[in-house]
Amino acid sequence: MTIEQVGVVGAGQMGSGIAQVCAAAGLKVTLCDLNQEALERGLGAISSSLARLVAKEKLSQADADAIVERISINTDMAALAPAQLVIEAATENEELKQKIFRSLDEICQPDAILATNTSSISITRLAAVTQRPEKVIGMHFMNPVPMMKLVEVIRALQTDDAVFQQVTALAEEIGKVPVDVKDAPGFVANRILLPMINEAVFCLYENLASAEEIDTVMKLGMSHPMGPLALADLIGLDTCLSIMEVLYDGFKDSKYRPCPLLVQMVDAGYLGRKSGRGFYNYG
Ligand code: CAA
Repeated sequence: MTIEQVGVVGAGQMGSGIAQVCAAAGLKVTLCDLNQEALERGLGAISSSLARLVAKEKLSQADADAIVERISINTDMAALAPAQLVIEAATENEELKQKIFRSLDEICQPDAILATNTSSISITRLAAVTQRPEKVIGMHFMNPVPMMKLVEVIRALQTDDAVFQQVTALAEEIGKVPVDVKDAPGFVANRILLPMINEAVFCLYENLASAEEIDTVMKLGMSHPMGPLALADLIGLDTCLSIMEVLYDGFKDSKYRPCPLLVQMVDAGYLGRKSGRGFYNYG
């Protein structure tokens, strides 16, 4: 089966980025979200990302227009029926993802591959809610998707080797570097990254230094492009907390305990860039 048409579920920052890179590689993309406003915001994010690339002369205006034309938006998941591959990029909530996978299983052609961009949830458990567990796989992109080269490709226990090969080839076709990773809480990227971010939040909680100073330590001391607290704001503090909870529940190890300040910030609705306030303020 050749993959020419891709469906993306969820028009947030990850879903819109995934739609953009797939369309940039010449694939036809249907971007689905229950919420029309989210779809329009997603398309807006794609347009501004493409505009940055045009301004930097990395892309012509004609190519940017062609990319946007290859993306259609829809609030009805039934529009995903013709896709050979659907990538789910909804909120990091297992119940919601299971519900989406059950619907996709009914809507999509029997040989379509169902992938999830989950950042930590078990691919094996998601595969198990479908009638096609051998065609379910993890494709974990990094934020911002157009800039970051990595895709973790995560096989469920049930995934066919042929599906793994096809998804790995597709990740390369869209300009990414796939890494073969086993299915375990947080996979590899977030198993390493999130405890670091959580520890940075503990440093702030314990008043060891200000947010700016903590970030400066990691930027200037370790050559990280962004400090961990600014990165947490980019990822979304709700997503960071969900991933820490998956690590904590999955490994039953107190070293993954979410920092109480992270929990409080999420309770307060301070979710980072997307809500205008996190460890920093965004005008
Ligand atoms: N679309 C297009 N271009 C973009 C862009 C976007 N969304 N975001 C940034 N850029 C471009 C800029 O135009 C700029 O281009 P030039 O190099 O040609 O000038 C370049 O990227 C650098 O951008 P900036 O100068 O604005 O800022 P920067 O140098 O700090 O780079 C960054 C921005 C690429 C985001 C960099 O800060 C970075 O790599 N940060 C770390 C990101 C990271 O760690 N991501 C992983 C998060 S974890 C995750 O996603 C997994 C999970 O499940 C939680």
